[in-house]
Amino acid sequence: MADTIQIKPISSKETYAVRHPVLREGRPISSCALEGDNVNTTIHYGGFMKNKLIAVASFMKNSHATHKLENAYQLRGMAVLKKYQGNGFGKILLNFVETSLSEKQISILWMNAREIAIPFYKKLGFEVIGNVFDIPEIGNHYTMHKKIK
Ligand SMILES: CC(C)(COP(=O)(O)OP(=O)(O)OC[C@H]1O[C@@H](n2cnc3c(N)ncnc32)[C@H](O)[C@@H]1OP(=O)(O)O)[C@@H](O)C(=O)NCCC(=O)NCCS
Repeated sequence: MADTIQIKPISSKETYAVRHPVLREGRPISSCALEGDNVNTTIHYGGFMKNKLIAVASFMKNSHATHKLENAYQLRGMAVLKKYQGNGFGKILLNFVETSLSEKQISILWMNAREIAIPFYKKLGFEVIGNVFDIPEIGNHYTMHKKIK
């Protein structure tokens, strides 16, 4: 497998090609839509290998309701196609976006992480805050955050 991906901004609809099989498997394609997808401060990035979209992540300008995370972006819909997972592509994509957001003077990046993805985010320097909570139809989540500026 080639060792790198090209990262480019993409549209919310383009993310569905990865969101659907990885994050919404077996559910209707309409379940891929996320609130805030089309807000003008939202940014979607895709990681491409030889013109094939293999990784996606979306970044929404959101403070956190209870944890007082100000000047913050929320990561949503982070996914790498199964066949390409575990090759460093998620890390490349997230590192790229962290740099880009910190250049825009954003202070904090946070997410509601699936339990299964916590080791990945910890490796990238994110910390858990607060307690576990359930997102219906998806499962246990933890809020994680990282100071990026
Ligand atoms: C979570 C996900 C985005 C990570 O992307 P990835 O490309 O597979 O991860 P990477 O290969 O870039 O991993 C980066 C580092 O995290 C580590 N890591 C990744 N997943 C891990 C896991 N489950 N347990 C322990 N370490 C893990 C890797 O070993 C690697 O460590 P290294 O830098 O020391 O080599 C991807 O696996 C995925 O799409 N999973 C399913 C969907 C999902 O859970 N999305 C997150 C929703 S919150």
